[in-house]
Amino acid sequence: MTDLVTTEINDGVIIIRLNRTDKKNALTGDMYNGISDALDQLENDSSLRVGLITGSEDCFTAGNDLVDFMENSSGIGGDSPVARFLRTIPHLKKPLVAAVNGPAVGVGTTMLLHCDMVFAAPTAKFSMPFVNLGLCPEAGSSLLVPQLVGYRRAAQLLMLGEAFTSDQAKEMGIVSEVVAENYQDYALAKAKQLAQQPPQSVRVTKQLLRQSNEAFLKAVMKAEEDHFSSMLQGPEAKEAFAAFFEKRKPDFSKFG
Ligand code: COA
Repeated sequence: MTDLVTTEINDGVIIIRLNRTDKKNALTGDMYNGISDALDQLENDSSLRVGLITGSEDCFTAGNDLVDFMENSSGIGGDSPVARFLRTIPHLKKPLVAAVNGPAVGVGTTMLLHCDMVFAAPTAKFSMPFVNLGLCPEAGSSLLVPQLVGYRRAAQLLMLGEAFTSDQAKEMGIVSEVVAENYQDYALAKAKQLAQQPPQSVRVTKQLLRQSNEAFLKAVMKAEEDHFSSMLQGPEAKEAFAAFFEKRKPDFSKFG
């Protein structure tokens, strides 16, 4: 258990809140387990209808904790907490809503691809800088991003790791709505509205919306997991991670 992920139940909605503000809600293994435990609770407790994942008021998450990544050789595969999370979130039967502001980096953006609705403040900032870190896409993003935005824009977002705004994310279909004020209250109201819909009907609809992608997504995520886990041990990632903590620009000029 960790107090860096808290849960609260409100009218059939389980609110999962990331709470590590001093490190921009960067996700440690314990935090991934905290989120997965809450998602399991959502699936297994019949009184719960909807999950709502959010960060602190001004920050969703800076993505995977880079210290954790450097210290844990299993990466996003094996029985690591990241792997558990990545195997849980795409297969939820009940709906998951997200409320986002501030940085949503790496898995902070890719987890949104598995949410059913995403509400963002105008000041949210999204990015998937896996290549910038000497890594490759994860969480099915190498399939889901091009499906949403087309190959060309996906290549720009994933190869250059360029950040994009809430308005751009909405235009690309990554965000459902940009909410000018009180984005967390708005997302909770939508989650509660969803919790009042007939539950079987919502679940069957979710299953139908996703079924055509399921087998493909599984295969893509396995390939991503294999590449990502070996690249995490590679020299390009080592240089990128060292540069982040030394607060300097990485130098990839020596790699062939
Ligand atoms: N892992 C570990 N620590 C992280 C982190 C991460 N992913 N993201 C931020 N932190 C830490 C910083 O090291 C810093 O710690 P310190 O106060 O002990 O120096 C603290 O959180 C605050 O971060 P800082 O960079 O000063 O905040 P900022 O507002 O200037 O920038 C971000 C915020 C999110 C843009 C920036 O922190 C960032 O780019 N983080 C890395 C994101 C990343 O690459 N994630 C992995 C994707 S796979």
